[in-house]
Amino acid sequence: MSHLILPKTWQRPEKEITPENVFNNRRHFLKLMGFATAGIAGGLLAPPAFAKGMETKLTEWMMGSNRVAGLKPLENLNRNPDFTIRRAMTKENAAFKYNNFYEFSAEKEEVWKTVDAFKPRPWEIEIGGLVEKPGVYAIDDFIESFKNVEERVYRHRCVETWAMVVPWNGFPLSDLIKKVQPENKAKYIKFTSFDDPTVAPGQKRFSDLPWPYTEALTMAEAMNELAFVATGIYGHDLPGQHGAPIRLVTPWKYGFKSIKSIVKIEFTENRPSTFWNTVIPKEYGFEANIDPDVPHPRWSQRREKMIGTGDIFATMKYNGYGDYVAELYE
Ligand code: MTE
Repeated sequence: MSHLILPKTWQRPEKEITPENVFNNRRHFLKLMGFATAGIAGGLLAPPAFAKGMETKLTEWMMGSNRVAGLKPLENLNRNPDFTIRRAMTKENAAFKYNNFYEFSAEKEEVWKTVDAFKPRPWEIEIGGLVEKPGVYAIDDFIESFKNVEERVYRHRCVETWAMVVPWNGFPLSDLIKKVQPENKAKYIKFTSFDDPTVAPGQKRFSDLPWPYTEALTMAEAMNELAFVATGIYGHDLPGQHGAPIRLVTPWKYGFKSIKSIVKIEFTENRPSTFWNTVIPKEYGFEANIDPDVPHPRWSQRREKMIGTGDIFATMKYNGYGDYVAELYE
């Protein structure tokens, strides 16, 4: 008997993302042309061929207002088509101005205004613990040693219920792990952020919090193909507020696992303590997998609100990435 092998949901071609600005511009364009009907702006009602050039011009013009000025686009960046999703991309300038980064501020809309004194270069990253190839590397040498730099569009969901759709660039965490060769005894990977209250006002203000910020994954989680080391966002290097120069991205987990501005990566036998799990263990578990059926003790996790548009969606278990990760937890 033959089996039907269905592609994973996010690999089906109709799930290819339409960047939000293209989507909106197409709608806008169609409206101008007098064809637009709400809800049918994609696929079936593509603009007629004669209008394509005009649509491109309109797209470029509209993109200008969505982008953040002064960040140099990276060359030769390829989007990995396996990691695209149908939901509209969050506008860059909305993501840029709404961040969680307690080292700087507890006010999400203030973080971007407080990062100027923080300099992500020069920067060193240390690899240590139970590993065959420990070392300390200058960040750009380290990043350049990974050949498979790619862009991935991921959902990004904070435990506070806000969400985004973000194009990260970087490389799979599994590539890093294979390169440094952890010992068999290593069961966890621990990440540590920088600690410098002279440039990070939040570290001064909230001096009783257990700085530096730390996070950790099991080795099985870290080797999952979704676990990503981001060195950039929206086609350029990471700006300070998104965790320059290097951060973790684990899109099936609440955003607090995606630690920013990493200075150290260690391999350990025992489960390391982690920042929010230490501060409020009853509210922030170690695993922190996204699950609409498990409410936060102070709020429901059933819905999420998109930054930039305010659209509300039902939260998906594992943030919609169950095909990749559910087996880790069976
Ligand atoms: N990393 C550090 N070092 N400090 C933080 O406060 N906040 C986390 C995570 N990584 C945080 C961090 C939380 S709660 C979230 S939701 C995401 O970063 C937010 O990432 P973004 O601002 O790039 O969207």
